[in-house]
Amino acid sequence: MTVHFIGAGPGAPDLLTLRGQALIASCPVCLYAGSLVPEEILGHCPEGAKIINTAPLDLDAIIAECKAATDAGLDVARLHSGDLSIWSAMGEQLRRLRAENIPVSVTPGVPSFAAAAAALGTELTLPGVAQSVVLTRTPGRASAMPDNETLENFGRTGATLAIHLSIHNIQNVVDTLLPIYGADCPAAIIYRASWPDQQIIRGLLSTIQSGLSEDIERTALILVGPTLGSQDFDESCLYAPDYDRRFRAQSAADPASSNGKGA
Ligand SMILES: C[S@@+](CC[C@H](N)C(=O)[O-])C[C@H]1O[C@@H](n2cnc3c(N)ncnc32)[C@H](O)[C@@H]1O
Repeated sequence: MTVHFIGAGPGAPDLLTLRGQALIASCPVCLYAGSLVPEEILGHCPEGAKIINTAPLDLDAIIAECKAATDAGLDVARLHSGDLSIWSAMGEQLRRLRAENIPVSVTPGVPSFAAAAAALGTELTLPGVAQSVVLTRTPGRASAMPDNETLENFGRTGATLAIHLSIHNIQNVVDTLLPIYGADCPAAIIYRASWPDQQIIRGLLSTIQSGLSEDIERTALILVGPTLGSQDFDESCLYAPDYDRRFRAQSAADPASSNGKGA
């Protein structure tokens, strides 16, 4: 019996992977992490499934539910919002389950930063502008930041910053980044990306806060960086007509020798 960790995606029920959907449908027990997992996704559970919201539970209680299910011969679907590789608390659950010799699997989900970029219709890495995205946060009540992982340090790279779990701290984010990125640097706040009540606020680092309404106090991502507004970037070599690459070799005299596959 296995505990299947499944990334439930950013909110829209059809942004769940097919693998995730099939696993949910196969598990008679489902543990889900609170209000960020939409009802429609829970609708993939088989009829009669035991469905538990883990928001009010502590780690001991969550592991006890998993153990009780697997001891009874039942597979468990363990759902977390977005992808599991960032801020899902999967790590501590995996460690406990492995210590109990309970088999686990991990199925990725669409992360919120990707849904936010999609909502903006933007690529976060543009040639000659920024080639890195930093997924980060500011310190929270329960989570200190390691000494070197400061917004100042990340900001000095000039990368696109995707700042999670920090909308309540927007003033501090802006104050910290203004001297580094400058007042004219594009910024965006995406509230509940892919949900029906999604909101997008675009602006400059110096003005972005003025677009914030009071209802945006959680589940929002702050994106900062020159890629967000840039039309002034180089085209990549990938599709340049004179670029010699594996599946479109300029040096190949005989097109018939190509296998016809593209990138
Ligand atoms: C506990 S973290 C979970 C991150 C998640 N594992 C992921 O892959 O995106 C929650 C934070 O992610 C961001 N977030 C999650 N879902 C979001 C969404 N649909 N729209 C905007 N931000 C979201 C917010 O910054 C929120 O405070």
